[in-house]
Amino acid sequence: MMIRRNRILRQSPAIRAMVAETILRPEHFIAPLFVIEGSNKKEEISSMPGYYRYTLDLLKTEVKELWDLGIKSVLLFIKCEDHLKDNKGTEALNPNGLMQRAIKTVKDAVPAMVVMTDVALDPFSSYGHDGIVEGEEIVNDATVEVLAAMSVSHAEAGADIVAPSDMMDGRILAIREALEENNFTKTGIMAYSAKYASCFYGPFRDALDSAPGFGDKKTYQMDYANAREAIKETLMDIDEGADIVMVKPAMAYLDIMRLIKDSVTVPVSAYHVSGEYAMIKAAAKMGWLNEEKAVLESLTSIRRAGADLIATYFAKDAVKLLG
Ligand code: PBG
Repeated sequence: MMIRRNRILRQSPAIRAMVAETILRPEHFIAPLFVIEGSNKKEEISSMPGYYRYTLDLLKTEVKELWDLGIKSVLLFIKCEDHLKDNKGTEALNPNGLMQRAIKTVKDAVPAMVVMTDVALDPFSSYGHDGIVEGEEIVNDATVEVLAAMSVSHAEAGADIVAPSDMMDGRILAIREALEENNFTKTGIMAYSAKYASCFYGPFRDALDSAPGFGDKKTYQMDYANAREAIKETLMDIDEGADIVMVKPAMAYLDIMRLIKDSVTVPVSAYHVSGEYAMIKAAAKMGWLNEEKAVLESLTSIRRAGADLIATYFAKDAVKLLG
């Protein structure tokens, strides 16, 4: 006689909802936003169909819409104009730069929105690298100084959380110290701790025109063959003062997410990156996948693997799907 029937708890939507272990809610999402100069323009990113770069005026509208949907956080990226790029990322420190104005714009539009900012040199770098280039090398310590100054500049403009995405050694400590020295004791750090050298960033680099001009990012981003190294990176970032740590990309790195979640006590974020967005969009466009179902299944699996937060280009769509 069968006395264990697992299908009993799957028999209706109500009973399935009662026993669901993993839930997705609007506050779990961080919405990345791309910002450009100009006015009244919303440019679609060709390798990210349905995703746009916004001028500041339209950014305002978008942020209000996100807030009304229940999304509590945005992650800002800017597309720096070519003539402002140099090797040292000088424009990143401009108090009136596009990032600084974008932060103020979001805070003006929705003061309660948690504003996170990308801290890295690549959008500002004439080489498209996340650090200062000397010869063929991406130099660490000089870059860290710029990242710390950049973080202070974002905090001055009103950022709540700075998010260094560069993978230089020692940058979390340098950023925390710089924030403390400048009295930004309430500004947090979300560290891209386990960020892998991944092909899935391709569409993002199109969005910001930030692809490396030479070489690749393998001397600073992690080798995807490695898992234990992710723990080492993450624990060091926490020791140095990270408030939230991140695993990036997401879907091909769910094992890493689980490993990190089980190794730390701070909140963990996943970055469901541009290439992951593009894959679902492309397959859906061909009629090979149901986009809505693929989105919810993907995001739920990222949460199930341990992510407290998910930065995703599907944030708005997902919240609408959740109803
Ligand atoms: C660069 C940065 C990248 C992303 C976020 N910050 C790309 C890279 O490292 O080359 C990728 C995000 C995505 O693909 O969605 N500092």
